[in-house]
Amino acid sequence: MNMAEDAGVAHSPIVSVVEHYDDLSQRAAEAVAAVLGRKPDAVVTLPTGDTPVGMYQELVRRIQAGELDFGRAQFFCLDDYLGATPEDEASLTRWLRAEFLIPGNLPENHIHYIPTVADNPALAAAGYDRQIEDLGGFDLAVVGLGPNGHIGFNEPGSLPTDSTRVVELEAATRNQSAAYWDGKADIPTQAMTIGLGTILKARQIVLIVSGKNKAEIVRATLEDPATADVPGSWLVQAGERLHVILDQDAASLLSTR
Ligand code: F6R
Repeated sequence: MNMAEDAGVAHSPIVSVVEHYDDLSQRAAEAVAAVLGRKPDAVVTLPTGDTPVGMYQELVRRIQAGELDFGRAQFFCLDDYLGATPEDEASLTRWLRAEFLIPGNLPENHIHYIPTVADNPALAAAGYDRQIEDLGGFDLAVVGLGPNGHIGFNEPGSLPTDSTRVVELEAATRNQSAAYWDGKADIPTQAMTIGLGTILKARQIVLIVSGKNKAEIVRATLEDPATADVPGSWLVQAGERLHVILDQDAASLLSTR
């Protein structure tokens, strides 16, 4: 059962609080499917990590059942470690290929890999933003929220005008990343991420957050004044273009709950 509650007013983000993680996954998959339904050739970016696992399972289920088709969409990878290739054990792109891009039958020529192995990463990052822009910008950016408030790998200190670039990873983020590979992988100190400026231009942004351990950073993101200390807080300026989907645990410290 989906115990969703929507509380959105004009020019404010739309916040949906659902009961459990499974409801969140369904809600997020629905949001993606709705954009693809309206615009089959949508330009999208989707995150890696623990939070979107259920969303990908549902999207793959729908694709394999013939209910959804990503065949005309253009997909841009959100972030990865600098120098990582899909052949490396610790590669977010590798993870994404296994969880979604391959089982979801995305055509290889519609997948844009963030250029983490370019000779000149700064130049290549600018080229990646240009590719996004040339295709008309993002119709949809689904993002998760790091324990330190990061979006993609836009770590604390990031600005709402930031473009795609190379960033230094905080120790906490590297530890979070290492946990994805049971602590066995050596996580680089630098990464490449789509910038908040590029994400903020998306026609729709969906922020998905689950779990009690994120409740305080969710509260700070949505209720405190926007600050570079909590990069996610910049997303609020997208107003109603931002749809926040939370499970009850993640929403538990919001003052309006
Ligand atoms: C991953 C990414 C990160 C994660 C965030 C939450 O591509 O961009 O910003 O979305 O760290 O990660 P989980 O979902 O593992 O808690």
